[in-house]
Amino acid sequence: MSIDTTTPLSQNVHLQRWVKKMAALCKPDAIHWVDGSQEEYDQLCEQLVEAGTFTKLNQEKWPGCFLARSDANDVARVEDRTFICSASKEAAGETNNWVNPFEMKKKLRALFSGCMRGRTMYVLAFSMGPLDSPMSKIGVQLSDSPYVVVNMRIMARIGTDVFKKIDESEIRVVPCMHTVGAPLKPGEKDVPWPCNQEKYIVHFPETREVWSYGSGYGGNALLGKKCFALRIASAMARDEGWMAEHMLILGVEDPTGKKTYVAAAFPSACGKTNFAMLIPPKNFSEKGWKIWTVGDDIAWIKPGLDGRLYAINPEAGFFGVAPGTSTKTNANAMASLRKNTIFTNVALTPDGGVWWEGMTDEPPAQAIDWQGKTWTPEIGKQTGAKAAHPNSRFTAPASQCPTIDPDWQKPEGVPISAIIFGGRRSTTMPLVYQAFNWSCGVYIGATMGSEMTAAAAGTIGKVRRDPMAMLPFCGYNMGDYFRHWLLMQRSLSTTPRIFHVNWFRKGEDGKFLWPGFGENMRVLKWIVDRANGHGVAKETPIGWVPGYDDIDWTGLDFPEESFNELQRFDRDAWRREVLLHEELFLDLKSHLPKELIYERELLICRM
Ligand code: OXD
Ligand code: MN
Repeated sequence: MSIDTTTPLSQNVHLQRWVKKMAALCKPDAIHWVDGSQEEYDQLCEQLVEAGTFTKLNQEKWPGCFLARSDANDVARVEDRTFICSASKEAAGETNNWVNPFEMKKKLRALFSGCMRGRTMYVLAFSMGPLDSPMSKIGVQLSDSPYVVVNMRIMARIGTDVFKKIDESEIRVVPCMHTVGAPLKPGEKDVPWPCNQEKYIVHFPETREVWSYGSGYGGNALLGKKCFALRIASAMARDEGWMAEHMLILGVEDPTGKKTYVAAAFPSACGKTNFAMLIPPKNFSEKGWKIWTVGDDIAWIKPGLDGRLYAINPEAGFFGVAPGTSTKTNANAMASLRKNTIFTNVALTPDGGVWWEGMTDEPPAQAIDWQGKTWTPEIGKQTGAKAAHPNSRFTAPASQCPTIDPDWQKPEGVPISAIIFGGRRSTTMPLVYQAFNWSCGVYIGATMGSEMTAAAAGTIGKVRRDPMAMLPFCGYNMGDYFRHWLLMQRSLSTTPRIFHVNWFRKGEDGKFLWPGFGENMRVLKWIVDRANGHGVAKETPIGWVPGYDDIDWTGLDFPEESFNELQRFDRDAWRREVLLHEELFLDLKSHLPKELIYERELLICRM
């Protein structure tokens, strides 16, 4: 039985009027109000299989799973095509691409005119955060991509219940326009992955709008994620006194059953998902230590009535990078993606399963690569071709994660006791140190650096400043964002303790000094002990650090000399580091809070 999708699911006149207006602009052949049901999801997946976008995987081995292959020109977020169109250039700041909003609107209206011809326009209401949470926000995405609809059903709460909430309250909705930018002429056959060479990912922070043109992939198209939950939400958070951050959230349960929640900001490709799903080493788990996952990418954090910070994960799924994910590196992610998962740009194995580099030690003898071509380990060796694209992804429901925290959907969120910043640094940065206080911690986050990887354009290995891991995601002037962080302290009676970690420091032989992600629990335990006021530390010019005996080494043979090398304060390297901080500060100049200039002076004095 087919579902009636044409009757509006909301009685809200503003919403209905906007849908009509946008339909008149985009000229779709049909309008489909998305109810979010399983039946509708199944029908859309079937339709995607027929269109050649999806391949149904072997349902015995991969129940409810599909594989999508994108166009080779649509495989990642496009930072250079991402715009923050604030009223003034200054409001967007030096770190964002800015275009005058009136000019951009004119451009977008021209691009969107007739852009959905031959396609269906989906009216997709979504909630970022649990529907019963006072911290949640609602958006409505109009999209001509059924692939987006089915992915958004995993990544957010969508459908009838969200429309009901729109109708019952006066809640302000964030309008999100999305098109793949590929209208069809009458009778024209569609391609499996429609998109446009020209791409625009545009944000209007003042009017709280998103307009996305030309891409169907990830953060460009699933507008609840980076566009809404970070860029637009960061501007909302500044105005409303809360924080929208590029952070994972996890809970550390100690042997007495006490749980301490931690939020951590690492740039992309620095192990956020792995850290959020950490499995403690055997001797820790035997004693009763356990890690609980609340979120792996985004945290919305707000002062609670008790003067502490509380965080929710606004998302409902994981949009994780596949390559490198295995039962060894992240068994919990592997368990999360075993069913009801959409894979994009991974390889297809002859038995109807999926594979990516790093999933198993032994590659399959043969596979179909992410571009639909035959791939063998031999071809890979000869041509360097990867079976899976380096940015291939799995879209999996968070509820399927074995370590999902029982409180992950608690309306008021979970209390945050520690905030961790970290980047990929082969030199200078010790394994772990703690900020002296909140403003010192804000300085540490603001000046955070990470070495660029092959995944991003730029010189590989060059340290790029990525303040709070928010460089591509802050929806307003970065200097004002730092001020907002500093001001948050005034709304709190207990501030979380702030830490910096670096798992990537290398020795003179070029090898990593830290034995691996699996051992991060030892550092996390010290952090949690410190946050709870009973861990031992000593003072250094950059902050508080653990001594060798302050870390629990049971079950690991890690000599004191190696630890000292990992923690070494290299005065010359820090002199250079501080000069690099100055470079960032020069870029931000007029909007930089003076507290951060003082913090830099204090750091120099201590050195
Ligand atoms: C992501 C990213 O997809 O940070 O989470 O790029
Ligand atoms: Mn991210």
